Amino acid sequence: MLTPICAPNTRHIAPDDTSYWSQVRAHFMLEPGQVYLNNAALGLPPKPVTEAVGRGFARLAENPTGAKRAFYRYIEESVRPGLAAFLGVQPEEIALTRNATESLYDVVNGLRLASGDRVLTTTQEHPSAVRPWTVRAARTGIRVEPVFIPSPVVSETDIETRIRGAIDDRTRVLFFCHITRGGYLYPVANLSALGREYGLVTAVDGAQAVGAMSVNLADLGCDLYANSLHKWFLGPSGTGFLYVRKNVRAAFSSLFYEEDEGEPGAARYETLGTYDLPVRAALGTALDFLNRIGIANIEMRLRMLSGYLRERLRGISRVRLLSPISHTLSSPGATLFEIDGIPGSSLVGPFFDAGLHVDDHTRDGHDGMRISTHYYNTLEEIDRCVDMLETLIRSR
Ligand SMILES: Cc1ncc(COP(=O)(O)O)c(C=O)c1O
Repeated sequence: MLTPICAPNTRHIAPDDTSYWSQVRAHFMLEPGQVYLNNAALGLPPKPVTEAVGRGFARLAENPTGAKRAFYRYIEESVRPGLAAFLGVQPEEIALTRNATESLYDVVNGLRLASGDRVLTTTQEHPSAVRPWTVRAARTGIRVEPVFIPSPVVSETDIETRIRGAIDDRTRVLFFCHITRGGYLYPVANLSALGREYGLVTAVDGAQAVGAMSVNLADLGCDLYANSLHKWFLGPSGTGFLYVRKNVRAAFSSLFYEEDEGEPGAARYETLGTYDLPVRAALGTALDFLNRIGIANIEMRLRMLSGYLRERLRGISRVRLLSPISHTLSSPGATLFEIDGIPGSSLVGPFFDAGLHVDDHTRDGHDGMRISTHYYNTLEEIDRCVDMLETLIRSR
């Protein structure tokens, strides 16, 4: 019932190997006729994952005590260590949560800060991070100050210079995205090194990165990392994690335990209470599915598909691509653009009516669109989407 997690595949798979990728696609349940290009919002879990969830709830009804024991054991012996290995860290550093937002609330409220302490964020943060910071600032008198980052982003150095220039002697925390909602890839390793240089805690919103590219948290060097596993990782809805580097514990409290009591590992950052065990356990199946393909192959496939999409968009005269071509600055799978004279938000409805799932992008000063492609998408689906865009642009 509970999937053993296989070792990661290290064999190269060509990103344009149609035969391989169409076999992979056969494991997804999307209704025929629908084209799903909104993976940055919510990924499609493959069939083995949805089956694991369904079977899991059935087991809970058939033999609650036995199933609960089996789930708890599997989560501790397979899911947590498997995820930790995938992320290059220790199992005691991974707390399992429901989503990035829950992890972000833990981050914001767990940091030990005094009134007047400064937290530097950026102008490109997601509301799931802005909201908890705003509440904490209002209640405790900490100062949360966003550093302006232009969109499109200029360069890694520009991001680093702007953040470095805003640090002063009251600054305690650097908080920023690994990949922003608008698809910009930030230089996390360099910003974490900058944090260390000034003795700051570095906390990262990684909701858009894990599952789309290789993420080794030990190498990145950040202290805290919040994530959702139902986006690019293709776990079931309602899954995420919080990474708490061991040596940041002195600056970071659990909301659920006193400093000297309770769980010694990162489970001390998890809420108590009954939760959806089959959903969390199905992360093992999702990780197994991912490992069989291999994260390096997934990233290459994403880059190939979004590269094709960006090339096609560049051929449309009224479209202005916001996503940088450089891989070091751009999400592997999310592509952002504006259309001259047409609000992107007005096109999402007509796209959906035609069976095309895309998203708007009404942040960073834009009213554009976001098309996010995962490895199960095809060049034909991208063509259908871009053809639709051309038709809509011609009609306005
Ligand atoms: C950058 C970023 N952070 C946080 C979130 C929140 O993720 P969730 O709704 O899964 O908690 C999102 C969701 O799109 C996001 O893009």
